[in-house]
Amino acid sequence: MSRRPLIAGNWKMNNNKRETLDFLASFLPKTEKLTAEVVICPPFTNLYTAADKIKGTAVKLGAQNMHWEEEGAFTGEVSPGMLKEIPCDYVIIGHSERRQYFAEMDDTVNKKIKSALRYGLLPIVCVGESLVQREEGTTMAWVLSQVEKALKDITSEQLEQIVFAYEPIWAIGTGKTASAADAQEVIGAIRKKIAKDYNQDVAEKVRILYGGSVKPENIKELMGEADIDGALVGGASLKPDSFYALCSFQH
Ligand code: 13P
Repeated sequence: MSRRPLIAGNWKMNNNKRETLDFLASFLPKTEKLTAEVVICPPFTNLYTAADKIKGTAVKLGAQNMHWEEEGAFTGEVSPGMLKEIPCDYVIIGHSERRQYFAEMDDTVNKKIKSALRYGLLPIVCVGESLVQREEGTTMAWVLSQVEKALKDITSEQLEQIVFAYEPIWAIGTGKTASAADAQEVIGAIRKKIAKDYNQDVAEKVRILYGGSVKPENIKELMGEADIDGALVGGASLKPDSFYALCSFQH
């Protein structure tokens, strides 16, 4: 079974409205023939603007976070129903920056995944180790435990809808990429775990991305690995030329 490559741009807290419009004006006309699935994840305030511009194109829209509740007294939060209304297709869940700076925990990641799926949003679930964990040799145990906790009480039908992103924290925004072989080792282990805990069929369907200093110069090598199905890109997704170079790696 072949999994369709997915390239997702996580803009984080970058690109204001003008920059979003300029990005799309330059990027969208080139996307018609792309074979990879392409997702952009602008800040909340630009989701409607982006949704309006990408309508009728193959580019999909993702949010960077959401609350798990439908509505209520959660100042500053955005609900899955609100994202669906825009409409968003995807939502990033459990990014390491949210875990690190906003106290996102494995149990809230799990709640958000279930809630996103209830609303027909496809979750991109982030996992990854710190530099200390990498040096201590606890990477594999840590990442597999994050996957296990994220998937608590998730059925195999639900799991088919989920995308994972392995993002080693030490590789994010640092210019240091995990080697393709190191990324493959962890991503391959995630897929094996899914095969063991669920079944081979679902393990072959779930897409697992790599994230952390992905650039046009290293995308081909990463995508050459058997289990790497795409990339979650920060810095190199902010400008249309570099993001297009990433999205067209197969061409
Ligand atoms: P960079 O591509 O800037 O390293 O960011 C990766 C990331 O965190 C994507 O979610």
